[in-house]
Amino acid sequence: MTALTTDVKVLVIGAGAMGSGIAHVAAAAGHAVYLYDTRAEAVEKGRDGIARDLRFLAARGKLAEAEADATLARVIPVTELAAARDAGLAIEAIVENLDVKQKLFRALEDLLDADAILATNTSSLSITQIGAALDRPERLAGLHFFNPAPRMKLVEIVSGLATTRALADTLYETAKAWGKVPVHATSTPGFIVNRVARPYYAEALRVLGERAADPATLDAALRDGCGFPMGPFELMDLIGHDVNFAVTRSVFDAYFGDKRFTPSLIQQELVAAGRLGRKSGRGFYDYAEGASPPAP
Ligand code: NAI
Repeated sequence: MTALTTDVKVLVIGAGAMGSGIAHVAAAAGHAVYLYDTRAEAVEKGRDGIARDLRFLAARGKLAEAEADATLARVIPVTELAAARDAGLAIEAIVENLDVKQKLFRALEDLLDADAILATNTSSLSITQIGAALDRPERLAGLHFFNPAPRMKLVEIVSGLATTRALADTLYETAKAWGKVPVHATSTPGFIVNRVARPYYAEALRVLGERAADPATLDAALRDGCGFPMGPFELMDLIGHDVNFAVTRSVFDAYFGDKRFTPSLIQQELVAAGRLGRKSGRGFYDYAEGASPPAP
């Protein structure tokens, strides 16, 4: 099985934290990438974010200026899905909600060519269940990137019950060609990493709930003392509490309420308050201009 060639156009749906990062990766690999979101301002913001990242890499000498410009030129903002009908690979990175994702994939099935590949970046929803809404569920797989997508190497290639091996293999080779480290997984709740990481977040939130220490101290202990790249609270702020909470709820429900995956009331309160982390300017830490830095 071989990777998709760079003449295959990629459509990324959802221009938030993940969608814009995935668009960056695919464009850097040489594909023309349509970037779509229901909110035009999100597309704008997503593309600006890619431009900022590319400038940063160029300024540090990690990327030639010309390559940065060419990568950005391959990102095509679109405000209508119909403008991307010649895409051969669609990667969905919208809100973590089964109904909304199913509705989108039904629309994509109608819009795109019969041999176009459909992929979802869902963190926790069942690929089998998303695919159940399709006429041809065998053309859908999970293509699960990690945050931030341009920097994180791992990509989980997730097969639902109907996904063909050939499709999973093509995505595997494509992720490899994009400079990633792909792994195959079947569709179980949370797949591999999100399943294993759930207790990390949950236990940190429980420790905080018991007032053992504040978030900055706990983050410093794990990051600086134990060598984790990020502490759990700064990581949840990066992921977004709405996303992280939705994933925990989804894994909890999928395992029939297994107590190990009980969602945190502390996190529920943050979501209710709109303190979603970096993307909203405040989570466990305050990211407003002039605020003290996230961690000691
Ligand atoms: P986000 O909230 O940053 O962005 C989601 C974007 O999707 C928003 O711009 C929103 O306007 C748009 N959107 C919502 N419904 C839409 C629709 N029907 N059509 C087109 N656009 C729509 O969310 P984020 O963090 O980028 O997550 C997206 C997906 O990626 C979710 O499924 C999430 O579980 C998954 N994911 C998130 C990770 C993270 O660390 N944040 C990591 C890996 C996967």
